[in-house]
Amino acid sequence: MTAVTASLFPALPSPARATRLRTRLLQWYGENARDLPWRRTSDAYAILVSEAMLQQTQVGTVIDYYGRFLEAFPDAKSLADADEEKVLALWSGLGYYRRARSLQAAARVMMTDHAGHFPRDEKAALDLPGVGRYTAGAVLSIAYGLPQALVDGNVERVFSRFFGLDGVSGSRELVSQCWELAELLVPQKRAGDWNQALMELGALICTPRQTACVDCPLKRSCQARKQGRVSELPRPKVRAAAKALDVEMLLIRRGPRILLEKRAEGQALGGLWQLPTRAIDGEGEEGSRLFAGEWPDGLGAGNGPDLGRLRHGIMRFSIRARLRPGTARGRRGPALDWFTAEQLGGLGLTAMARKALAELKDWPPRTD
Ligand code: ADE
Repeated sequence: MTAVTASLFPALPSPARATRLRTRLLQWYGENARDLPWRRTSDAYAILVSEAMLQQTQVGTVIDYYGRFLEAFPDAKSLADADEEKVLALWSGLGYYRRARSLQAAARVMMTDHAGHFPRDEKAALDLPGVGRYTAGAVLSIAYGLPQALVDGNVERVFSRFFGLDGVSGSRELVSQCWELAELLVPQKRAGDWNQALMELGALICTPRQTACVDCPLKRSCQARKQGRVSELPRPKVRAAAKALDVEMLLIRRGPRILLEKRAEGQALGGLWQLPTRAIDGEGEEGSRLFAGEWPDGLGAGNGPDLGRLRHGIMRFSIRARLRPGTARGRRGPALDWFTAEQLGGLGLTAMARKALAELKDWPPRTD
């Protein structure tokens, strides 16, 4: 446990108060926890998969992905040995693909250094690719029952309100106060339930907006509620405005196939397939970080009318895409290839490509 700083002094719960808080929340969790697939296992690898998926993604979206992923890769060995293309395909649509790559890299380290297991030691856990303090705390407490704390966005919100902490969401000050409280409060027994109970309270009751305070098991001691500041805490961070970016996407068909372009490794979304896409000339230099401005030789927009338009938000860009018919002269190569609708199921596609394909009226082509 880290030393408790003076910054927490007014919020610091007495041991008796901490005990009451734990009892009440654990009881609420026992009665209200959602039945989620990763709560039916104590397999540390499966819990690691769920935690990697749940970062930045809603529970409802993750459930199906989790099932399919574990069916394909039931243990660290199968994931370590898998083709990256297949891993990305099973992640396709969840976004933040670095998580998938890190998860596979972690499985490889688990195979080489830990006999295929997630290490029980915190320091060794933190050495796994993609495993930070949150993920280590989650897997060690949930799978192994070790008294490790965790803080995610839900826990930050719950603590900020319950203890009346004034910091800005995500700020170093607020996050470190929350970690101190989390370490102080995590029980020796049932740490996994405790951590999940905090996150569950944040997901079901102590939500960002339209909180369900009347149903909250902690409402009588909640500082924000006493002070009428529930909707003000945690204080929101000021976000930079999204930058507008206009792009052109090409739909190029040859019989039942469609031409896709593979994004370069090392680039954002590297290794994923997209419809050939270019930033439109003169529209924001920064867009060139995501898309080149020129078509490669042999590829270009045709003359027909636009096939559709879509909007997509990614990495602080608000993208407006024109979907245009395109032409290609004999293109095929490592970064450009033709695929049928069935083959797309096995590919890692960008979310924008999925959206675009869903927009097209006669795609997938009828086979009857
Ligand atoms: N968010 C991430 N992991 C979670 C878990 N195990 N329970 C509730 N919310 C979560």
